Amino acid sequence: MATTRGGIITGWGIGVPDNVVTNEDLSARMDTNDAWIRERTGIRERRIGGTTSQWAIEAGLAALERAGRRPDEIDAVILATTTPDQIIPATSATVQDGIGVPGGAFDVNAACSGFVYALTTAHGLLAIGAERLLVIGSETLSRVTDWDDRSVAILVGDGAGAVVLEAVDGPGQLLSWNLGADGSLRHLLKCDHGGFLYMNGKEIFRKAVRVVIDSAQKAITDAGLTADDIDLMVPHQANLRIISAACQRLGIPEEKAVVVIDRYGNTSSASIPLALADALDAGRLNKGDKVLLTGFGGGMTWASAVLHWGG
Ligand code: UT7
Repeated sequence: MATTRGGIITGWGIGVPDNVVTNEDLSARMDTNDAWIRERTGIRERRIGGTTSQWAIEAGLAALERAGRRPDEIDAVILATTTPDQIIPATSATVQDGIGVPGGAFDVNAACSGFVYALTTAHGLLAIGAERLLVIGSETLSRVTDWDDRSVAILVGDGAGAVVLEAVDGPGQLLSWNLGADGSLRHLLKCDHGGFLYMNGKEIFRKAVRVVIDSAQKAITDAGLTADDIDLMVPHQANLRIISAACQRLGIPEEKAVVVIDRYGNTSSASIPLALADALDAGRLNKGDKVLLTGFGGGMTWASAVLHWGG
């Protein structure tokens, strides 16, 4: 990748509701059970409540604190979300105001691939002169969920993850990226104005494994690496079985994949930054590590990136 200005992640943070909803809680109100949910998805519990801007602000402030940066040092807020607080204005406007960032603000909606789309876009802004950006993935899927529909209600969770991305001379951390979409599959996962989230779980499952493997493999190859070189994989948290299948077919040992779906469920564009923050807080990333971020979602969209940690 030819660029004279790259980016490095200097801070990270999360914001999640305090309200924990367990599988038992859901079993009490719909025809499901803990064993089915855990076996089929890997989810034990999820956080529910609040607004997308609320969790984005909390995560963004935590990321700024970790980076040792003030809000007025940030050039723009890029918010990946598929559940904006309103249709207009963009939720990033509320976040920009709430955090006190003087720069620009815009939303990115690429469903569950949104954070990697946003992170890639952010690197483009750094290449043309931006100094520091706040990149956030935040969702409140619970607000578009029919809580009597077990096919969706057991899967979703709310929350946000954020990173501060700062410009450096030279290539920075991003070794490669791969973004994709196939809009002819948009009927598989959708939510109309005023409606509830609908998904054809089986079909998405099938397609997701295929597109994630293809996208991740392209990103790994474009980075000049092989699967053996990947030290940590941060996948979208949609289903533990999808993560396992992707690891298996990519040839990446499952221990290298970050899993937070058990605690947060599927938080769409928040899932990758939540998982990344979890891995960083647990000390799972060391200087020199190669990190694969990879996700897929409604659209369909997919997105992968390889980072050289500390690069
Ligand atoms: O973020 C990106 C978008 N989303 C995804 O990536 C989701 C991808 N898909 C999935 O994760 C899975 O397809 C699901 C978890 C949604 C469903 O798992 P599945 O293994 O595909 O289950 P299924 O829909 O084939 O259902 C299997 C059985 C059925 O019963 P029968 O026909 O075998 O008697 C369902 O009626 O499980 C039943 N079932 C349930 N049972 C208890 C379906 N949902 C539930 C439930 N609790 N919540």
